[in-house]
Amino acid sequence: MVTTPLLPSDYLDLVSPLRAGADLRGRIESVHPETGDAATIVIRPGRGWRGHTAGQYVRIGVDVDGVRLWRAYSVTSPTDRQDGRVTITVKAIPDGKVSNHLVRRTKPGTLIQLDQATGDFVLPQAKPAKVLYLTAGSGITPVMGMLRDTEFDDVVMVHSAPQPQDVIFRNELHDLVADKKLRLTELHTDTDGILDIASLDELVPDWTERETWACGPAGLLDAAEKHWTEHGVQERLHTERFRPSIVVAGDGGEVTFSTTGKTVDADGATPLLDVGEEAGVLMPSGCRMGICFGCVTPLKTGAVRDLRTGEITEAEPGVLIQTCVSAAAGPCDIER
Ligand SMILES: Cc1cc2nc3c(=O)[nH]c(=O)nc-3n(C[C@H](O)[C@H](O)[C@H](O)COP(=O)(O)OP(=O)(O)OC[C@H]3O[C@@H](n4cnc5c(N)ncnc54)[C@H](O)[C@@H]3O)c2cc1C
Ligand code: FES
Repeated sequence: MVTTPLLPSDYLDLVSPLRAGADLRGRIESVHPETGDAATIVIRPGRGWRGHTAGQYVRIGVDVDGVRLWRAYSVTSPTDRQDGRVTITVKAIPDGKVSNHLVRRTKPGTLIQLDQATGDFVLPQAKPAKVLYLTAGSGITPVMGMLRDTEFDDVVMVHSAPQPQDVIFRNELHDLVADKKLRLTELHTDTDGILDIASLDELVPDWTERETWACGPAGLLDAAEKHWTEHGVQERLHTERFRPSIVVAGDGGEVTFSTTGKTVDADGATPLLDVGEEAGVLMPSGCRMGICFGCVTPLKTGAVRDLRTGEITEAEPGVLIQTCVSAAAGPCDIER
């Protein structure tokens, strides 16, 4: 017992990793290509899984080249899937560590760490009479979870992707259209250009009356928030962002990760989470966009800037920072 760092639970993990009482894990059972760069991953969650609400996301911890990396993915399966499996659908982005690993290299049988589903990008208890889904690219994933889960009498979707073959779930969307369960406007941005938000007046003339769920790149969501606000219907718009909107950058500084004993120069625009990972420091993380608090870390000395607001936080005893949305604002010491 003195010489081994392993606990009895570690041995149990070897034989029964999905058992009740173990840290929640999932086993990847299969990977189904959706487009050239997106795939659906079928996961069997362990016994402690409490289910999800359509539109929510899960944080998963995946080992990539020996390093455990955490990312958030929307659940794309319906809540009543009979076999108890859940799916996420991942789009590989250029140079993306986890997304490329999941889409191109993951093998069935792989164990991953899994957190309970969370997030408030969900449908309300009372069904709205009219719904609009405004999506682009991989932003279709939480909405597909909703479409598969709940039927509405009047649903319109406006979805953008570069080309027809890039539209994730295209066949299923077209089946819903054929069954008259969905009205779909598909925009192919390589030929049509990106959606001009003002064109909603023509595409969906009653858009102001519709409860709207929007997910896609920052440009689309920023434009939608402005447009809905200008028309006084902002309470009808629900948005989900996959990345934080970064508004402010300032001077950086020398960052010390005192527990690991590493010091590096950082600019004022790069999140300390990325700075630490790049330097080989083990950094906890989750959503990487300031919502899950999976990355909070004590700031021992110095100051950091919140990349979303520009606000400066100075070190004081007990001060915690979110490393995914904080950058160095001068020299600082992070307890990692
Ligand atoms: C609530 C939530 C739900 C999400 N749901 C999904 C989902 O269902 N499907 C899905 O594919 N992704 C989803 N994401 C995004 C996902 O968590 C990862 O950010 C994405 O897979 C990239 O991770 P990576 O390790 O491949 O890239 P990294 O190695 O972290 O980053 C590589 C490079 O790409 C940039 N980058 C990081 N994220 C993005 C992005 N989303 N778009 C463009 N560039 C980026 C980085 O700045 C960096 O330069 C979700 C994110 C959140 C917060
Ligand atoms: S990783 Fe989720 S808040 Fe920082």
